[in-house]
Amino acid sequence: MLGMLHTSADALLKRVRRSSFYYKRFNNTLAFGINNAYTRYARECTARYAAEHGTTKLPPSLLRENGAAYFPRVFPTDKARAYSEKITRLLECNDSAVDRPKESDLSARIRAPLRTLGTDVLDTLRAPAVHDALLRFFRGHYRIEWVTCFRTFPAERVVGSWLWHSDSFPPHTCKLFLHLTPANVETGATEFMSLTDTMAYRRAGYFGQFKDERFASLEEFAQAHHLPYRPFHFDAEPGDATLFDMNFFHRAVRPAHAFRDVVQFYFLPSPIPWEEHYARDADRLVAGGGSFPKDPRPGMSTTSSQSMMM
Ligand SMILES: [Fe+2]
Repeated sequence: MLGMLHTSADALLKRVRRSSFYYKRFNNTLAFGINNAYTRYARECTARYAAEHGTTKLPPSLLRENGAAYFPRVFPTDKARAYSEKITRLLECNDSAVDRPKESDLSARIRAPLRTLGTDVLDTLRAPAVHDALLRFFRGHYRIEWVTCFRTFPAERVVGSWLWHSDSFPPHTCKLFLHLTPANVETGATEFMSLTDTMAYRRAGYFGQFKDERFASLEEFAQAHHLPYRPFHFDAEPGDATLFDMNFFHRAVRPAHAFRDVVQFYFLPSPIPWEEHYARDADRLVAGGGSFPKDPRPGMSTTSSQSMMM
């Protein structure tokens, strides 16, 4: 009896979290407690920034509507290429820094990139265009929660992040790719959808959140539901960056040939500048990560079970 009640309560909670009201408010299906903690923390961090700096200099963030933004030449091209070459060498000698899951021929992960490649990748955030865009998104300071790095290979079979989906990360957080190789239609540019289109597809019944409900193509679904199909991507070169809200629809695109190398940063709100936070938390950040804390306050909570999504 108790088991049946729990099952019904779970089903009800799932329906509430899948309602357009919940998606509009949080853009995910996480528990209310997590969403509430992030919303409150983001508000506190913004209020502190406003008290210290004023907000008049911060125009609205285009990311909130568009879902993704592109920043050319924010990291030295030669250094980006050198990192990619290092990844090739690590893979060739089957280095312990490489994590290549046996079940996946789509990607390999480079462990602890700040140690394996170097802390120079942090210079990406010192590029004024990237820093400004992050300030605008957070309406204040932000911190790095983790840095990961992966190589994507050409593959016949597409699964998981290669299908249209939205991640379910907390609100007021975002990700940035630093491209180490060209990323275009041929070499695997991630495709994105705007907030308007993401919400229109959800209203029509496409969620693409859990792995068994994701489609490789949404063109037929769009036709059947009279929706616009207008994904966009950025043609990136080594040293370019893409900033995006991973809770909007997106899909990784497998390279037709060669491979694609990316360093991925995940950001949370912060009451202090990212460099100050980094100085306090460098050991943990260097160790790597891929999830998010249930409570966004530094050192407050255990990590959620969310896996790394691209
Ligand atoms: Fe994703």
